[in-house]
Amino acid sequence: MRRLLALLFLCFFSTQIKAQHIIPQPVEIQQLKSPAFRLTASTSIGGNTEEARTIAKVLANKISTATGYPFTIRQSGNIQLNLTKTRNEKIGDEGYTIEVSSKTVVITANKAAGLFYGMQSFIQLLPKEIESKTVIKAQWSVPSVQVVDYPRFAWRGLMLDVSRHFFSKEDVKHYIGDMVRYKYNVFHWHLTDDEGWRIEIKSLPKLTQVGACRVQRYGKWGTYEAPKDGEPATDCGFYTQDDIREIVAYATERHVTILPEIDVPGHSTAAIASYPELCCTKDSTIKVSPGHSFSEWYGNGQFKMLVDNALNPSDDKVYEFLDKVFTEVAALFPGQFIHTGGDECYHGYWEKDAGCQALMKKESLKNTHELQSYFVKRVEKIVKSKGKKLIGWDEILEGGLAPEASVMSWRGTEGGKEAAKQGHTVVMTPNDFTYIDLIQGDPLAEPDATSYKSVRLKKTYSYEPAEGIDTKFILGGEANLWSEKTPTLRHAQYLTYPRAWAMADILWSPQSVKNWDYFVKRMELQFERADLADINYARSVYDAIVQPSMKDNKLLVDMSTEINGLDIFYTIDETIPDKFSTKFTQPIDFPEGKSVTLKVVTYRNGKQVGKVIAFPREELKKRLKKQ
Ligand code: ACM
Repeated sequence: MRRLLALLFLCFFSTQIKAQHIIPQPVEIQQLKSPAFRLTASTSIGGNTEEARTIAKVLANKISTATGYPFTIRQSGNIQLNLTKTRNEKIGDEGYTIEVSSKTVVITANKAAGLFYGMQSFIQLLPKEIESKTVIKAQWSVPSVQVVDYPRFAWRGLMLDVSRHFFSKEDVKHYIGDMVRYKYNVFHWHLTDDEGWRIEIKSLPKLTQVGACRVQRYGKWGTYEAPKDGEPATDCGFYTQDDIREIVAYATERHVTILPEIDVPGHSTAAIASYPELCCTKDSTIKVSPGHSFSEWYGNGQFKMLVDNALNPSDDKVYEFLDKVFTEVAALFPGQFIHTGGDECYHGYWEKDAGCQALMKKESLKNTHELQSYFVKRVEKIVKSKGKKLIGWDEILEGGLAPEASVMSWRGTEGGKEAAKQGHTVVMTPNDFTYIDLIQGDPLAEPDATSYKSVRLKKTYSYEPAEGIDTKFILGGEANLWSEKTPTLRHAQYLTYPRAWAMADILWSPQSVKNWDYFVKRMELQFERADLADINYARSVYDAIVQPSMKDNKLLVDMSTEINGLDIFYTIDETIPDKFSTKFTQPIDFPEGKSVTLKVVTYRNGKQVGKVIAFPREELKKRLKKQ
């Protein structure tokens, strides 16, 4: 009898399982009392319309890989995807509801996008083994829950720079395929820059014959030698228009809009190498940059370009060129917007150019910011004539915003605030929170990254887009991945996750559910899923933060962690620290001695979680100077 009772007890607790923890955090998720739903070889998947059945098929494909079950698609199934006949206003176009009982799962939405996102949440409700790429044994149970969910912002983007490093068609699809798991819906494709023009423009063949190739360099980006005279440009890569159509179709199937970016008038070395007549100096020796340094940065936004990498705003031929480019770009991309760049344009060559000076006089333009504004306004007319809307980096505010332009605020949030004040819509990508190329841990423990400032995970998670801006004007936000130091897809993933998970919460979930500790818990569950799905991610969030300061002429070292509940252990005797080393409790007086090295590591519940990082005394002192 005791055995029977124990068995009954076990059965009860094995059928009632806890809700999984989803990223992004849903608006409402309620655990119900009934037993879990079990996926079996005879489970069927239904869709009440053709559109719903299309998504049912995507779900069947996804979950048959790990389960090995041959799911059949019907009008009515155990897992049912329904498009509403009467619109549910609460969930809008992208929202959904899920009801899981022991017998059925019902996902309901007003539109296909909502069903698609409901499906993504459903996948996260399944055990992590569902991410396995081969058939695996698991208890395929779904907790009995009720979910009501819809996004906070309509524009939830990730940007990938494919100019500084080229990513193959398959890589780009992979990146898009991963981002939709977290309900991102805009892929901002930075297609042109000084280091490569990556989109075929049939009427301007040199853009890819010349502009998509640069001389080969190895090592550390930014330290490379400039292209030498006569040196063959063998490092090439671009997307044909067929490639682009294929990627657009792939994205569309996943409810992702692609935002193509053609970055002008600055950042145009690759275009100018192809057609030197486009810049003021008409310098035919200009070559696509392999990632060498050709600029000087003075701080405070001041800089100088040592080669002329800006289009000439006073030349009608430049607008004819852009008309051809945007005609073909507009035909390829179905989205509403085209991004025309506008950032970091050096005006030095414009200042010396007779044509620019004459135009400024003729148009009564007071300075070169107004000249750039003149350029953007003409570009806006071109973009508009192709049936599209212009969005540009926040520099397009300087000298006066084009009448209907939207602004992508990257130099902090000020550009976004100002544009919204002027009644323009904005997409928020402030670099100190959302630039995921920036270093996410200690430089001593990270691969080479853009590191002029760090954007740790907690910093990204702390971002609040609506701070100081009327939400009416915020379309949404993006995390941006520049690729100077991102040569591979694996590394792109490392920089993207987990920060893009934080950003997914910020852009999708209500502000009221924001909670760092709970985010960390959900992130750690995603780590396990990502391991099975072969998605790379950074574990830098576990590493110790070491902060030197000077007190009474002595070096003082403080230590902390982003995650609560970690222990930091350290040594200063050259040995490798572990949980038997000295535990950090308060700032330490760092001993004198040039060769002393601090080594730190983090543990949780007796298990190592962070990396061992070694800080030579000289490095700590160097950091004092930078503070
Ligand atoms: C930018 O980061 N230059 C937009």
